[in-house]
Amino acid sequence: MRKHFFSGIQPSGRLHIGNYFGAIRQWISLQDSYEPVFGIVDLHGMTVRYDPKDMQVRVLDAAASYLAAGLDPEKSIIMLQSLVPEHVELAWILNCITPMGRLSRIPTFKEKVRQNPDNVNMGLFGYPVLMAADILLYKSEIVPVGEDQVPHLEFTREMARRFNSIFSETFQEPAEVLSNGAKIVGTDGINKMSKSLDNCIYLDDTDKEISKKLASAMTDPARKRRDDPGDPDVCNIFSYHKVFSTPEEIAQCAEGCRTAGIGCVDCKKIVAAHIQETVAPIRERRKELLARPSDVRDLLKSGADRARPIAQETRNEVREKIGTKLD
Ligand code: TYM
Repeated sequence: MRKHFFSGIQPSGRLHIGNYFGAIRQWISLQDSYEPVFGIVDLHGMTVRYDPKDMQVRVLDAAASYLAAGLDPEKSIIMLQSLVPEHVELAWILNCITPMGRLSRIPTFKEKVRQNPDNVNMGLFGYPVLMAADILLYKSEIVPVGEDQVPHLEFTREMARRFNSIFSETFQEPAEVLSNGAKIVGTDGINKMSKSLDNCIYLDDTDKEISKKLASAMTDPARKRRDDPGDPDVCNIFSYHKVFSTPEEIAQCAEGCRTAGIGCVDCKKIVAAHIQETVAPIRERRKELLARPSDVRDLLKSGADRARPIAQETRNEVREKIGTKLD
């Protein structure tokens, strides 16, 4: 029997190429060796203000993007987190053994507080605990994620150790799996590509939109004119090359940049073509899937039906360990 692991994406907006190269592309390659659970983590998405009407749209959008990108519901379990209440139960149990001081030091919490100073709620504070519950519930030994999630994985390992030491050996410590696209920088050339910033190339962008976004994207700030030599190591477009382009193109662009043999416009065109090649089929399949929203909804429900017994097995074991199982 294939082992399980959990990974997920928040339905907080359209998915972008950071989500694809940081997470989904790895997920696809792990579908044969595991039976992974890929969640659309709507409970996490509630930690910031949202419009309930939008939530439905975003959940379907994320599910359609999962499928369009190549996740296979025969091999993987694609589910909506809130349909498996065991996630919340385990999160509560973990809450009761989580030191508040430890949570307050998690960098993503501090960042969220900065972004949402008017809505610093308990859910936001306990966000990593729910994430640890997602991961531990399926006894994940690996969790493919982008680099920004590493502090959450460290926290999850600590929670596994803490639970085991208080209640006896139950969970193994999961390891993050990072790809070469673990940190895709946004088109602003400074910040991580992120739904909350206007710096994304989305999985449903048209070829024209992709070209336009790249045309105005930051390059080496010191390279002012076409004839100036540049430094690929400080150029965001070169960081895209390293993920999207062939080894020959990477070498040519690095050399061309240093000697001013290639201009930023041409360099960007190569990257644009690769991103377009990846995004175009996803965009088309996504459109077809979204034309049949009830099929996508049914898929999420049946995914939850498959995930629930796995989650319940761990939940039952946990109840026994913590002394709440009645029999
Ligand atoms: P989220 O929704 O912010 O992002 C989903 C996945 O995409 C990756 N990612 C990126 N990778 C590379 N470059 C980027 N610019 C970039 N932006 C996002 C993220 O690292 C992530 O892997 N807390 C999680 C969701 C979650 C989860 C889980 C993940 C909830 N429970 C359990 C793994 C396991 C989050 O907010 O991801």
